Amino acid sequence: MNEDNFYTKKLKQKQAILAPMAGYTDAPFRYLANSYGSAWTVTEMVSAKALVNGNLQGVEIAAAYKNEKDLVIQIYGREPELLTEAGQILFEKYQPKALDLNMGCPVKKIVSKGMGSSLMQEPELAAKIVNNLVNKVKIPISVKMRLAYKDKTAAGIIQKLEDAGASLIAIHARTAEQKYTGEANWQEIVKLSKLVKIPIVGSGDITSQAEFENYSKQGLGIMIARASLGKPWIFASLRGAAEPSKKEIAKICFKHAVLHCAWYQNIGLNEKQSMQKFRSKLLAYLVFLEDKSEFRHMDSLDNLRQFINSYFNLEIQESDINTKPMQRKL
Ligand SMILES: Cc1cc2nc3c(=O)[nH]c(=O)nc-3n(C[C@H](O)[C@H](O)[C@H](O)COP(=O)(O)O)c2cc1C
Repeated sequence: MNEDNFYTKKLKQKQAILAPMAGYTDAPFRYLANSYGSAWTVTEMVSAKALVNGNLQGVEIAAAYKNEKDLVIQIYGREPELLTEAGQILFEKYQPKALDLNMGCPVKKIVSKGMGSSLMQEPELAAKIVNNLVNKVKIPISVKMRLAYKDKTAAGIIQKLEDAGASLIAIHARTAEQKYTGEANWQEIVKLSKLVKIPIVGSGDITSQAEFENYSKQGLGIMIARASLGKPWIFASLRGAAEPSKKEIAKICFKHAVLHCAWYQNIGLNEKQSMQKFRSKLLAYLVFLEDKSEFRHMDSLDNLRQFINSYFNLEIQESDINTKPMQRKL
């Protein structure tokens, strides 16, 4: 039996996990997911190279709140030394509870450089990366991958990663070639979980409490990605909490907007730029509105607040949302 670590302790609580999503799982969204009971949250994938070379964008993606709970940072790259150095920098800067290696990204720009899911073609290299990280960064190291990349399957790799010291493996239940098409194959995830002693976390298409409970009972951890967009309360819903009303959703949406603008202000985005960046997130919350034309002009928090207050008959003030405890960890 493996000794207890951050991941095994958290998994015992049987809560779903916020999956990494580039462009979405920034600190404000992680905070919201956390507040609804996500077991842990994973950052967007951070380039080890950009980080080590001092490219601020790379650091920005991993940036965390000062006392951020249950933070896992995902990194990508292919050079073991570079990844170890990146892991050390991230550990010192943000004290994450664990680091996760990306072996699942199917995007051409990444796989053409031998990173992301294409690392599945090189199990020895992947094991070396994991082993170096395990030896140099004293927190659990996990890996997130796909069911397969070309002819290389997760079944042929996960034991090697376990032997290299990985503490957990998350698997998106599709092949890299499938990208996001077709159905997630959870039967395969169940089979894979029998091959190793470390926990397996499945990812793909889970939206309901019944599915969550079914796979949870089979000993799997469950990650939620797209179903949490505009719905951070899904982590509570999967454990039986009532769905929020439309009014409550509007309030959560406004809270997210305030946290978002406060967060991006720190990297020099003004409110208008922050609100532009928030637009796709806003639409995900208010998807039930028939007329979304208003959103095109929504370039300040005050616009959004006024719209929400008049449409939903509310009296929200910006000052209702306390962003003070959420300082950046710089
Ligand atoms: C917009 C978007 C960005 C993603 N970015 C990442 C990423 O940075 N790292 C990663 O391992 N997976 C990433 N994924 C994959 C998700 O973590 C997840 O495995 C996948 O979306 C399937 O889960 P779902 O059906 O719950 O969305 C991303 C998915 C989406 C939709």
